[in-house]
Amino acid sequence: MSATGAPPSGPSKITLPALHEKAARSERLVMMTAYDYPSARIVDDSDVDMILVGDSLAMVVLGHESTLSVTMDEMLHHARAVARGARRALLIGDMPFMSFQTGPADALRNAGRFLKEAGMDAVKLEGGKPVVESVRAITRAGIPVVGHLGLTPQHIRALGGYRVQGRTADAARALYEDALALQDAGCFCIVIEGVPARLAAFVTERLEIPTIGIGAGVGTSGQVLVFHDLLGLWEGKSPRFVKRYADLGDRARAAMATYRDEVAAGTFPADEHSYGMSDTEWDAFLAAIEQAPIAMVP
Ligand code: KIV
Repeated sequence: MSATGAPPSGPSKITLPALHEKAARSERLVMMTAYDYPSARIVDDSDVDMILVGDSLAMVVLGHESTLSVTMDEMLHHARAVARGARRALLIGDMPFMSFQTGPADALRNAGRFLKEAGMDAVKLEGGKPVVESVRAITRAGIPVVGHLGLTPQHIRALGGYRVQGRTADAARALYEDALALQDAGCFCIVIEGVPARLAAFVTERLEIPTIGIGAGVGTSGQVLVFHDLLGLWEGKSPRFVKRYADLGDRARAAMATYRDEVAAGTFPADEHSYGMSDTEWDAFLAAIEQAPIAMVP
């Protein structure tokens, strides 16, 4: 806040109506994940529309084997750091496993925590018809909700692995029904993950709200990727829908090896990384030490 009480001027914040207007003009929406202050700064500076503090942080940041272990408190901790780093993008907190599956009351309480305690603008939750009542409870409280259908990693045990969804006629119909149900319940957009491109395009054409694809082809209203996947910071196996735009992991390892070698060889720190002291002060210091030696502490 400035002395006049006005917030500091900066890039104008993306609002929900602005997102919908953009989608209505058939401009594609860009979503990225971020998990901490530096990643939020980088992503926000690249003018994306939405930042998702995804529960994928369980894997890419915390090193868990799946997204199931991350807790509500851990999500809030990371969401707060992202909110401190992002000024422009619409911020979405991902509701972790068991923060909403236990019913609408828990869902509403935990969704509220993302806005109240972590500065998020909206929440995302996985699932179709079974979560419709929770979506209704959250949206009724004025909290914008993003749905998430298709390959929903919180259902990994039931799905039997990270498999493409909606590949049979029945499964495709069920996904379409789920999308309509989420729209009816008040979701302002839906992430569609790991489904055939033609199904994602079909659903997108028939919904009034935008869709955000990941492994769902180019026929959605926009796209999301995981920060560590895009930058080559993730060592695990990546699905085919991941495109690496940089290999920062390799570059970081090379930088670390050079640092280690320079420390070992005594070439770092060099003069330009060190602080000086005048000869006068140095000589005075040596003389003082000689005159009144400092006793060694036993
Ligand atoms: O947690 C996450 O990063 C996600 C995206 C992949 C959509 O849910």
